[in-house]
Amino acid sequence: MRNVLVTGGSRGLGLGIARQLISAGYRVLAVARSHNSQLDEVRAQAEALNPGSFIFCPFDLAEIEKIPRFVSQLRKEHGPIYGLVNNAGISFEGVLAMMPTSQIEQLVRVNMLSPIVLTKYVVRSMMSQGEGRIVNVSSIMAFTGYNGLSVYGATKSSLLGFSRSLAREVGKLSIQVNSVAPGFVDTELTRSLGEEQRDKIARRSALRRLAEVEDVANAVEFLLSDKAKNITGTVITVDAGSTA
Ligand SMILES: NC(=O)c1ccc[n+]([C@@H]2O[C@H](COP(=O)([O-])OP(=O)(O)OC[C@H]3O[C@@H](n4cnc5c(N)ncnc54)[C@H](OP(=O)(O)O)[C@@H]3O)[C@@H](O)[C@H]2O)c1
Repeated sequence: MRNVLVTGGSRGLGLGIARQLISAGYRVLAVARSHNSQLDEVRAQAEALNPGSFIFCPFDLAEIEKIPRFVSQLRKEHGPIYGLVNNAGISFEGVLAMMPTSQIEQLVRVNMLSPIVLTKYVVRSMMSQGEGRIVNVSSIMAFTGYNGLSVYGATKSSLLGFSRSLAREVGKLSIQVNSVAPGFVDTELTRSLGEEQRDKIARRSALRRLAEVEDVANAVEFLLSDKAKNITGTVITVDAGSTA
């Protein structure tokens, strides 16, 4: 079984991605800080389908200095890492002029610095294997603006730039780097948005509906698959046509 590390794999998009990858035959190493009951459900399903295909690896990705050791432990315990899905992310809403600098720092740390450092250590494993796939979960906020999300938007745009240049750097080693940019998807991250705002986003999208967790998971699975063997340095937008 090929190992895929999915950060933020305990709920929302990350858990959906994990489910999909397990069905596609991968072993998923799901990273998040805390355990929850949804993880037990997915583990039970994974055991029935393909024993050992879902492993929860508790870790706080904000602890940047512990990342090298964390990755080397994962490699020791589970073997080479074929895929990395940098999905964990946080969002604080607020106008920049009033946002505490500590929150700005936390957003940059979890959404930007942490995936870059994690990729640094995981890509070394991929280099020695001569193959690998990296998928960075950005957002349509990287292209569009949204009042109160300037720092979040900055972190999500940064992942696109990171992906493109890294794709150029590691392409010769058969390692591919792409991004997915989801539109609004109903998860804990977006709970603060009211029914009215959701309806508005759906009404304004080309398909008159919202993208779902499964849609994003499908895009990630595709980018990890052999079908995407000649796709690197690009981004797939999954937003039901919100930005069309
Ligand atoms: N939902 C949307 O509409 C949407 C749209 C565009 C892009 N995105 C992006 O998609 C990704 C997933 O979003 P989501 O909506 O699924 O969010 P979510 O439901 O809030 O899930 C976030 C995941 O990240 C984990 N996480 C957060 N901080 C962490 C840390 N310091 N260390 C380890 N794990 C951490 C969480 O687990 P713990 O809290 O237990 O650590 C959880 O598993 C994010 O990068 C987000 O920016 C979401």
